[in-house]
This record gives sequence, structure tokens and C-alpha cells, in this order.
Amino acid sequence: MLASEVNRDNLSKMVRTFYKMILEDKTINPYFIMALGNDLQSQEWQEHYKILEDFWLMLMTGKKVYTRDAFEPHENMAELYRETFERWLELFNEVVHLYYTPKLAKKFYKRAEVLSCKFMQWLEIE
Ligand code: HEM
Repeated sequence: MLASEVNRDNLSKMVRTFYKMILEDKTINPYFIMALGNDLQSQEWQEHYKILEDFWLMLMTGKKVYTRDAFEPHENMAELYRETFERWLELFNEVVHLYYTPKLAKKFYKRAEVLSCKFMQWLEIE
């Protein structure tokens, strides 16, 4: 059943499915493999899942559980392009619809879209 509220349990499932999809995508997987490797069970990935759960929990519920800088790691990775962000957003849109009601999925997507735009501005991507 699609979730109509966000909690740690459904976020944990959504985040894990998202990165499984990402690692299957040739446009986007090199960035993640370079940073975290290709073993989704590894310690590095487990830490990443937890960080992303906190991040989305904060964005979607307002709980102050994420206190890091989301932008920083993107500044120093291999060059990102508009197409990379577009593909990331496409996959994200797909995954949120697998777990959440259309209304909630739309809210997730809007937040991600706004942040993508900000990231692109900071990174000076045309
Ligand atoms: C162009 C598409 C993107 C790529 C290739 C990408 C790639 C990555 C990678 C490889 C990491 C892990 C870095 C590390 O731990 O060394 C990361 C972290 C992260 N990404 Fe992205 N990302 C993208 C877009 C986004 C967007 C649009 C958002 C927000 C909506 C986002 C949110 C985050 C957050 C919150 C972290 C964790 C930051 C922390 O360490 O606290 N990313 N990203």
C-alpha cells in the first residue's frame, strides 16, 4: 500500500530502492561508484542511507535530524551536467511514486526539483 505519511521505515525502503535504481543507471552510477563503491551492502553505503533518511525526514517533516551540508560533496565530484540532474530527478520521481501516494510523491519531487535548481546554480551549470 502507498504511504500517506513519511516515516523512518518507509524512507529507509525508498532510499534503498532509489540507490539500487541509480546503480543500474549508466548515466548516473559512475558518480556513486567513485564515491561509495558498487557494493550496496557495504559500510559506506549503510552510512549514506542513514544520512539520506535523515535528510528526507527533515525536508518532509521538519524534524531537525539532518545537520550536515548537502551541497558540499557535490562540489568536489566529477563534473555534473544538466542531463545528470535531469536523470537523477527522473529516477527520484519514479521511486517516490512506488512508495508514496501521488500527493506525497509530488511533494517529494517538488523539494528535489527546487534543490536540483539550487545545486545547478551553485555549480554554475547552464
Ligand atoms: C546530479 C545528480 C546527483 C549526483 C550524481 C549525486 C551524487 C551524490 C554522491 C556520489 C553522494 C555521496 C558523496 C559522498 O559521500 O562522498 C551524494 C550525497 C548526497 N546527495 Fe547527491 N547527487 C545528485 C543530486 C542530488 C540532489 C538533487 C539532491 C537533493 C535533492 C542530493 C542530495 C544529496 C545529499 C543530502 C547527500 C549527502 C550529503 C552529506 O554527506 O550530508 N543529491 N550525492
